[in-house]
Amino acid sequence: MLGPVILAASRSDRMRRLISAAPVTKQVVDRFIPGETVDEILPIVRELTDNGLELTMDVVGEDITTPEQAEAARDAYLELIDRLKPLELGERAEMSVKLSMFGQALPGGHELALANVRRVVEAAAEIGTTVTLDAEDHTTLDSMFAIHEELRKDFPQTGCVIQAYLFRTEEDARRLAAAGSRVRLVKGAYKEPAEVAYQQKHEIDKAYVRILRTLMEGEGYPMIGSHDPRLIAIAQELARTAGRKLDEYEFQMLYGIRSEEHHRLAAEGHRMRVYTAYGTDWYGYFMRRLAEKPANLRFFARSMITK
Ligand code: FDA
Repeated sequence: MLGPVILAASRSDRMRRLISAAPVTKQVVDRFIPGETVDEILPIVRELTDNGLELTMDVVGEDITTPEQAEAARDAYLELIDRLKPLELGERAEMSVKLSMFGQALPGGHELALANVRRVVEAAAEIGTTVTLDAEDHTTLDSMFAIHEELRKDFPQTGCVIQAYLFRTEEDARRLAAAGSRVRLVKGAYKEPAEVAYQQKHEIDKAYVRILRTLMEGEGYPMIGSHDPRLIAIAQELARTAGRKLDEYEFQMLYGIRSEEHHRLAAEGHRMRVYTAYGTDWYGYFMRRLAEKPANLRFFARSMITK
């Protein structure tokens, strides 16, 4: 029951101010968002890649309110890409972006977000890597898929995320499971109404398996975004029966969650990409991580009380 309450708080400005200002918050936040600046995150990039892991990097932020903030978000990615260049990691370090951070919800936001993200995709291509468009709440997805399609005309390797909890996703997966596409499947992290999304965990898990089967049997490149041990085992089995080799799909997990599993899968020869978020505007990202596991909230509340 706590999850929906926390997700509602993730959209509250008052809660944002309260939680962001609490002095102990940072220690808990650091587990999921291990840096605020490029200088702080680059050693983490080196450590993960030295240990055989790959990355998708997220400069945290969403729901901006002015075109200038959208440009600043774009520039933060451009700076990151510039700083990654000498490391020559290529697609071992790709980017994940949220279009709401690039202005998608502003007037004329579809075009603005497309223009901003295009610059990031171009810069990423110049250093031999790519970009995946994160999936936000269901009202943003038609625009996200249209931008994805537009970008793929020039940069076919641009990826996107689909969310198993949405009824629409099985159809989206059939469309996207085509040659050359890169699709990350996740359960879904937003508070969605019963008209558009499954509400029960077992329904979401069953949908995840159906959609994953579609992706595995299709011609694209599936990216399995989950920490769920049952789904990871099913994904391995589906990949095997679809005749996929180890480099024809990949696992993805979030930084700070089940890290031992990242290393176990990489040691088995799987491609394992760690979604690594950094930056100062971490509130929405952090609250979704709390909502996914109530034990995180208890830990957070305890540190507020004992400090
Ligand atoms: P589930 O929630 O059932 O968790 C399985 C197990 O993993 C738990 O029992 C626990 O051990 C561990 N775990 C999971 N979450 C945890 C947490 N926060 N803290 C501690 N332990 C935790 N969503 C979205 O809507 N749009 C997006 O673009 C993305 N992008 C994305 C990228 C990547 C790489 C991942 C892994 C996930 C996302 N998500 C996302 C989030 C996703 O929708 C989902 O909320 C989380 O992955 C949690 O779901 P699981 O599949 O891990 O299963």
